[in-house]
Amino acid sequence: MKKFNVLFVCLGNICRSPTADGVFRKYIESAGLADQVHVDSAGTAAWHIGKSPDPRSTEAAYERGFDLSFLKARQVSEQDFEDFDLLLAMDEDNFQNLMAIAPDSKTHKVQKLLTLGSLDPTGDVPDPYYGGSDGFERVLDLVEDACAGLLERIKKDI
Ligand code: 4NP
Repeated sequence: MKKFNVLFVCLGNICRSPTADGVFRKYIESAGLADQVHVDSAGTAAWHIGKSPDPRSTEAAYERGFDLSFLKARQVSEQDFEDFDLLLAMDEDNFQNLMAIAPDSKTHKVQKLLTLGSLDPTGDVPDPYYGGSDGFERVLDLVEDACAGLLERIKKDI
């Protein structure tokens, strides 16, 4: 059986996209779809390759029941446009960076995550890296809402 493959993409792959990765894995498992959906995350930048998520992200996610502790950062690659059915950007910069490297035949796979949510469908997941703990809670609020929409969307495709 072919899996449906979802890649979450931010800048560093240590705050926002690992959060979405951990949240959506749990949603997929709770929905009994772990065998049918593959979830991963990556960054457009190479700065944090091999590193665990930012401890502030890991802690905030843990408090809501999501495990990010096993994730390791990697950089997005051209192969990802072949391997994944959807590449979901956290903000407009991530979206533009993905579109700049996407093969012409694969640009339809690139979308902003929040277009699937109800809280801020035209907006961005704000980068929490240089801010306080509020930023990490906001990331979780936006990501959880959009991942609920993503789950419904994927159920129609599998
Ligand atoms: P992320 O956040 O893109 O959500 O992982 C950032 C992490 C690190 C940096 C910027 C954003 N940085 O400049 O190192």
